[in-house]
Amino acid sequence: CAYSRAFALARDHPETFWGEMAQNINWFEPWSKTLHVEDPVFPNWFVGGKLNMCYNAVDRHVESGRGEQPAIIYDSPVTGTKKIITFRELQGQVSRLAGVLVKNGVQKGDLVVIYMPMVPQAMFTMLACARIGAPHSLIFGGFASKELSVRIDHAKPKMLVTASFGIEPGRRVEYIPLVKKALEMSSHRPSKVLMYSRPNMDKVSLDPELSLDWDQEMAASRPHDCVPLPSNHPLYVLYTSGTTGTPKGVLRDTAGYAVMLKWTMSNIYGLSPGDVWWAASDLGWVVGHSYICYAPLLHGNSTILYEGKPVGTPDPGAFFRVLSEYGASSMFTAPTAIRAIRQQDPSAAVGKKYPLTRLQTLFLAGERCDVETLEWAKKNFGVPVLDHWWQTETGSAITSSCIGLGNSLTPPAGQAGKPVPGYNGERIFENELLTDLSILPLPPGAALCLWQNYCLFKELYFSKFPGYYDTMDAGFLDEEGFLYIMSRSDDVINVAGHRLSAGALEESVLLHSAVGDCAVVGLEDSLKGHVPLALCVLKKDVQKTEEEITKEVVKLVRDTIGPVAAFRNVLFVHGLPKTRSGKIPRSSLAALVNGKPYKITPTIEDPDVFKVIERQVEKVWRRHA
Ligand code: COA
Ligand code: AMP
Repeated sequence: CAYSRAFALARDHPETFWGEMAQNINWFEPWSKTLHVEDPVFPNWFVGGKLNMCYNAVDRHVESGRGEQPAIIYDSPVTGTKKIITFRELQGQVSRLAGVLVKNGVQKGDLVVIYMPMVPQAMFTMLACARIGAPHSLIFGGFASKELSVRIDHAKPKMLVTASFGIEPGRRVEYIPLVKKALEMSSHRPSKVLMYSRPNMDKVSLDPELSLDWDQEMAASRPHDCVPLPSNHPLYVLYTSGTTGTPKGVLRDTAGYAVMLKWTMSNIYGLSPGDVWWAASDLGWVVGHSYICYAPLLHGNSTILYEGKPVGTPDPGAFFRVLSEYGASSMFTAPTAIRAIRQQDPSAAVGKKYPLTRLQTLFLAGERCDVETLEWAKKNFGVPVLDHWWQTETGSAITSSCIGLGNSLTPPAGQAGKPVPGYNGERIFENELLTDLSILPLPPGAALCLWQNYCLFKELYFSKFPGYYDTMDAGFLDEEGFLYIMSRSDDVINVAGHRLSAGALEESVLLHSAVGDCAVVGLEDSLKGHVPLALCVLKKDVQKTEEEITKEVVKLVRDTIGPVAAFRNVLFVHGLPKTRSGKIPRSSLAALVNGKPYKITPTIEDPDVFKVIERQVEKVWRRHA
């Protein structure tokens, strides 16, 4: 079938396969060599080519007659706003904003940090940066000041672009105090901060030396054209979590990413140019970068930008309403969003008011999807529901049902597809679980490197299994070649489709003066998949009650990591198990707290500690029951 042929060609002749796909992108100068590999960890795709991501996502559609087609459909139940932005209007906004950036000193290669809610201006900024070759680093609004400051210090932006506030159900997230505090905490200071004040509200500003007003700057700006950039020019840095508290800045190129994303829209998602597409994620995550912003625009699709939640804005019919109102052909979301709808409206009675006549497929990713949620979604959205697996590092799917290549629309429940062409997976067993790996070189669009951290990139992903990319996910493969992803093999906790580092949470908890030791593990949760649980050992002679300390620790994590951690659970224990080298066996502890069989390895110093914790956990669970 078409899938097998494509897979074999991409594996055996990657230059032929990707060279052909690259014809679907507009180049200012053609590339001279499709793939050049000196070090397989750092493949060079489309060597010698020059292009511009923004030109391919915006201008070329205006030139080819799509100027009046909606490019962005902004739907914001939290503000009661709906707005259609055509490709022509998008070109106008983005070219003028590019002019603002350049006028204020941002040059090709300078980094711009974006800290904005889900408003079209966030997408304008991403595209304006791409237009002039300034890599952007967009930081999710649910992170608190400290996380923002850590990223500012690492990224060293020339400019920071932000907005007055975001809106979460029931509260406004004031960005200005968060930005102020982050700038106070960071040693790097951007030379300018561009402020977008949301409509019908007072203007906001920081220090007048630093602050630029969006409306004033845009009114005075001259449009700036797309700058031709080399294939491997950095498009963005996207910070993600790993085992330790230090965030990793995944660096993305321009050409490989453009070629891969454009290819996925028809081959993985089965869309034609002109179709309406909705990725219900946040611009702050990789799904938002790839599938709210770049891929649909590259493919000439209308992309829905939704500022709301699956439930509560105003009800669990919201997803059905948006899909119906704009005639979306396909949607992409996280299983946790489906679980939220199902919990509030088990028979989808609210959703059924909205006919989904155009909807063809629903795609899920971001966390493991349980079979019940999958079946519920199939029944109530009335379309095939396809899970697929990917990561910030890869930028697009590693395994998927490539429906544009004739793959089945009804694969077995629980699977996340078969390898996407270019991911020549090989599976290695480790500790009885299968670790999924990809043979090098990785396909176009996968991470170029970690920003300012060449050595860590090599060490982290490519040293444990030389010749392979280590995905740090574990799962199994069935006889037909479908992959089932079960868990991370490192210390990342997946909370409502958001990737959090156990190490970063522990660092945050340990800031409390009463806590002497701490381990954070994922506790199973019927809505969010997992939520963090901190097992804390108190210092001697602490006077405060456990309730007081819990409240303070919860606030501390909210103030340092941010509300997105959904951190509420603390369990006080007498001691934590440690290996002889002082490491906490988090995976065994996670199994223990979730009532599953756990392993005590011979390197554990005091195995009895597990039994003590087990009794405490049982007591707590009995109390809750
Ligand atoms: N800015 C500020 N705060 C934010 C935020 C943002 N952009 N996003 C989330 N938060 C806050 C929430 O308000 C909440 O705060 P609270 O503790 O005061 O209630 C907290 O962070 C946790 O948020 P979340 O995990 O999103 O929980 P929720 O209860 O608000 O919503 C779901 C639950 C399931 C609806 C929501 O998690 C969801 O839609 N998840 C999908 C995730 C996703 O799209 N992942 C991308 C991969 S495809
Ligand atoms: P992120 O980098 O934030 O997109 O998170 C990537 C991680 O989410 C992966 O390493 C997996 O652990 C998890 N993940 C993503 N998609 C899936 C999926 N379809 N099934 C199971 N886990 C997934």
